[in-house]
Amino acid sequence: MTVRTASVDDLAAIMHLERTSFPTDAWSEATMRAELESPHGYYLVDETAGEVTGYAGLRAPRGAADGDVQTITVAETARGRGRGMGRRAR
Ligand SMILES: CC(C)(COP(=O)(O)OP(=O)(O)OC[C@H]1O[C@@H](n2cnc3c(N)ncnc32)[C@H](O)[C@@H]1OP(=O)(O)O)[C@@H](O)C(=O)NCCC(=O)NCCS
Repeated sequence: MTVRTASVDDLAAIMHLERTSFPTDAWSEATMRAELESPHGYYLVDETAGEVTGYAGLRAPRGAADGDVQTITVAETARGRGRGMGRRAR
């Protein structure tokens, strides 16, 4: 499992997780693309055997003292193992 910075190339994989994790209120692809492209965002993906199995995003406007975690998702098949930074990861 590897955590790396997300890019727009990950959009399709992220949207798959987004739609399966948030079936009733998933962000649109346009919104997610804007998040990935924003200079104020910091998105990561978690990969397992080359497959994106999680993502998380922070928004921290340049110059601002605060940032917000916008979203976090771990694929259903990979949950409960500490990838979402639960106690098991520490
Ligand atoms: C929330 C989520 C990312 C956790 O990922 P995970 O890899 O299963 O989490 P971990 O194994 O690292 O840790 C599990 C810990 O998170 C807690 N947890 C799990 N889901 C939670 C939730 N919805 N709210 C608060 N805590 C949660 C567990 O109780 C556990 O706590 P512990 O370490 O004290 O025992 C995952 O359940 C998920 O993707 N859910 C669907 C999307 C979602 O609801 N995202 C959050 C809102 S944006």
